[in-house]
Amino acid sequence: FMSQWVYTPVVKDHFMNPRNTLKEDEQFDYDGIGDVGSLACGDQMQILIKVKDDRILDLRWLTYGCASAIASTSMMSEMAIGLTLEEAYHLTPAMITDALGGLPEHKFHCSVLGDKALRAAIDDYLEKQGRENPFKKHVA
Ligand code: FES
Ligand code: FES
Repeated sequence: FMSQWVYTPVVKDHFMNPRNTLKEDEQFDYDGIGDVGSLACGDQMQILIKVKDDRILDLRWLTYGCASAIASTSMMSEMAIGLTLEEAYHLTPAMITDALGGLPEHKFHCSVLGDKALRAAIDDYLEKQGRENPFKKHVA
């Protein structure tokens, strides 16, 4: 079926012009860092967050993942900046793929990398602060 093979214009735009990626010489003083995926598989994803008053003030990311992973994480980065930590923790792959106008079905695993790494970065931030993670129990 054709649509299995087609990327939406929004996906293409985010793939060609990914938002909020960490530039090679960029100095980004982050408050939390999250790493997911496996380097061996090549789908590693890293998210860096700056936090102020329990909001995502800014975010950068890096991945060795594919086009779908890049588009999903680019979209996620735009959605996450400005959210409270709680809202950001509850961003789902479905919300991200909806905003992209859909992704081919077999590409689902690529779309979960960004939000997983974002939760890991929030976990890391709270841990560094010595705080309990109040959001964790809400996530399956
Ligand atoms: Fe893990 Fe390929 S088997 S990304
Ligand atoms: Fe593994 Fe997309 S990140 S195929």
